[in-house]
Amino acid sequence: MLKVAVVGVGGMGNVHVNAYRRMDDVKIVALCDVVEEKINDLCAQTGAAKYTDYKKMIDNEEIDILDVVTPSYIHKEIAIYAMDRKINVTTEKPIALCEQDAKDVFEAAYRNGVKFMVAHVLRFWPEYQALKKAVDEKTYGELIDARFFRIGRAPKWSWDNWMMDKERSGLVPFDLHIHDLDFIMYMMGGNMPDKINVNRVTNMETSTMDHVMATYVFGDKVINAEAAWFDSTYPFTAGYLVHFENAIMEYNGKTVTVYPRDKEGYVLDMGNENAQATGINLPDTDAYYNELRYFADHVKANEPIDCMKEAELTNVLNIIDNHF
Ligand SMILES: NC(=O)c1ccc[n+]([C@@H]2O[C@H](COP(=O)([O-])OP(=O)(O)OC[C@H]3O[C@@H](n4cnc5c(N)ncnc54)[C@H](O)[C@@H]3O)[C@@H](O)[C@H]2O)c1
Repeated sequence: MLKVAVVGVGGMGNVHVNAYRRMDDVKIVALCDVVEEKINDLCAQTGAAKYTDYKKMIDNEEIDILDVVTPSYIHKEIAIYAMDRKINVTTEKPIALCEQDAKDVFEAAYRNGVKFMVAHVLRFWPEYQALKKAVDEKTYGELIDARFFRIGRAPKWSWDNWMMDKERSGLVPFDLHIHDLDFIMYMMGGNMPDKINVNRVTNMETSTMDHVMATYVFGDKVINAEAAWFDSTYPFTAGYLVHFENAIMEYNGKTVTVYPRDKEGYVLDMGNENAQATGINLPDTDAYYNELRYFADHVKANEPIDCMKEAELTNVLNIIDNHF
């Protein structure tokens, strides 16, 4: 059995814990949250030991994988503390709030000979995997241009309102746009775009509005990405519209439809009919299970985490550091 511990059991931490509970070869040995009430029930249900101090948990427990799902500003500190004690670590995105800090996290993994993976979930999201495949295999011809979007109400429900604090969350660029930017970099092969143009409309002082509209140009291919927290009840919506030589491929947050040049559009089967509810403001998906399963499998088999390259991930943070 793989011994897993989770630190930070809020909205996303619960999604991760639920994913581990579906894995027969995983035992959740410990949970840690600074708010004890958040883990009382889960510890009782799973038999996990309960902690409010991550250092005590790491020092006391035998752990194969530590999953860091705390607010973003402490991912680095916790990840390095655990890796220096020879524990494999996965963190939620972002790895850290600047490129150098992310490099420090990778360096800690190398010097300790442990595995590290950031949970960039779109790489495990069937609708985005289908798009990556279509681009790589030129299923509908060459990619011409694309539009990604990830917009919704500002998450004013986070612990201690940390999400609304630039120093602790990095706001929309680090919290929301990073999903699409990471996927765009991955889809385009990991190299830096030739041109970057960012427009941002933000007011976090008297409102909760942070709206990013970015254009990334790779050779002759133009990719737009929009991400927003609105000061409105607008529901969370994410998707893409990708223009290939021979078809448009569209994900509207529910289904992926292909519109060829000369016949009616048809919906692609993503095999999602049994996908589980996340319990938060996201569509039903097994993507979180898939990413954590991938990491667990690679830890068990002692195989490299080769689904994402360090340079792709640090280039993403370099872009955010320098353009937002
Ligand atoms: N991949 C995704 O789709 C996705 C979606 C939402 C959030 N996230 C990421 O997940 C992480 C957590 O976000 P969230 O929405 O769950 O936030 P949240 O505020 O709902 O939960 C954070 C939890 O961490 C706990 N916490 C705070 N400081 C701690 C500490 N020092 N030690 C232990 N516990 C601590 C809080 O009590 C809270 O329960 C963030 O990094 C965020 O970027 C990812």
